[in-house]
Amino acid sequence: MSNTANGDSMSEQSSSALVVEDKAFHGGQDWMTTENLIADFSVTTGIMGPCEEALSFLDGNLHKIHHYPALDQEPYRSELRSWLGLKHDNLLMGNGSSELIDLIIRLAPSGPYSVGPNEVQYKEYENSCHRYNRELATDPKAAALHVFVNPTNPTGEYMTLEKTKRYIEDNCRNGSYVVLDESMLPWFGPRWREVSVYNQADWIQSMLAERGVHIIVIHSWTKIFCCTGLRIGSIILPCRDDFDLMRKFMVPWNVNVLAGDYLSVCMKNKEYMQQTWDITGQLRRTQKQQLQTEFPHWDVKGEAFLSWMWIDTKSEQEAEKAVRVAKEWGCPIRWGKKGYGRPTHIRLAVRKPELFQTLLSAFKQELK
Ligand SMILES: Cc1ncc(COP(=O)(O)O)c(C=O)c1O
Repeated sequence: MSNTANGDSMSEQSSSALVVEDKAFHGGQDWMTTENLIADFSVTTGIMGPCEEALSFLDGNLHKIHHYPALDQEPYRSELRSWLGLKHDNLLMGNGSSELIDLIIRLAPSGPYSVGPNEVQYKEYENSCHRYNRELATDPKAAALHVFVNPTNPTGEYMTLEKTKRYIEDNCRNGSYVVLDESMLPWFGPRWREVSVYNQADWIQSMLAERGVHIIVIHSWTKIFCCTGLRIGSIILPCRDDFDLMRKFMVPWNVNVLAGDYLSVCMKNKEYMQQTWDITGQLRRTQKQQLQTEFPHWDVKGEAFLSWMWIDTKSEQEAEKAVRVAKEWGCPIRWGKKGYGRPTHIRLAVRKPELFQTLLSAFKQELK
């Protein structure tokens, strides 16, 4: 083991250098240290698991890693544009949406930020804002930048399209930037594009022309297509100037060929999305009923179409124990205390019945 200048061993240095601060805690980190892993309930990925057809395609195309991806993100960018039904070309991709979140927050005009109407939401928006010395606005109307997630992770709250537009019209001052994360909206069902803000092209253009409000819609495709180990995302920008600015500061070759290929096959596989919609709502309902029967004091929250539930156990001790026993039984879940500062809450994914039965047995035997 080599030693560094200050005498630390390399392995000690690298592990301490990468310790995740509490504010940047994420789900999906426990599976590696869970003995007898049965299923990861700590992430919001879909019920289907990775798309088999896309995995087979990658298997047969692994040799592509011998080549650089195209600098212009093609053919993936055009395929994504047409899958979304976008009439313009102001779309950029990233290997995960997190790098795009950071890019926008770095480049949008300086000034305070607001997290929109959400009481708590996916933390990387705030983390990026703090990295670039933005302060939380005391009043949303004073914010230069609005960053919010709809439907919201972790709480599962959902604002309809009309409400979202009204919120933006009423709370975002002239000249501000609005970054709206709709990564969880595809679970809405076959009509998800119709209820998406990105599809309101005329309204987005009039907000820009009349009030100088820049509305950017961001998607992580990592969750709906269950590829947390690969990760892919995109942003839809309201005008060419914003597109050019983001493109200028984006690192080259930021979408690797495997992530691009995986997304490409998933988008064409209509069956995969249909099954996701068919199964998720029904299993979520059963999962919720079973939990409420066993733990009537638990408040199970979140929109019915989503792939996870946010549960207030009403007790920090109980939530902590639930997290511990879930992991011991091979089914890690997400504790709301870490990162989200909600110690009595837990978040768990909707999973196939045979997998959920293990988690339920763990709770029944160890929490009662
Ligand atoms: C709402 C939301 N947006 C974006 C992301 C980041 O996704 P990616 O893995 O594509 O960077 C997450 C991940 O948890 C998320 O929950």
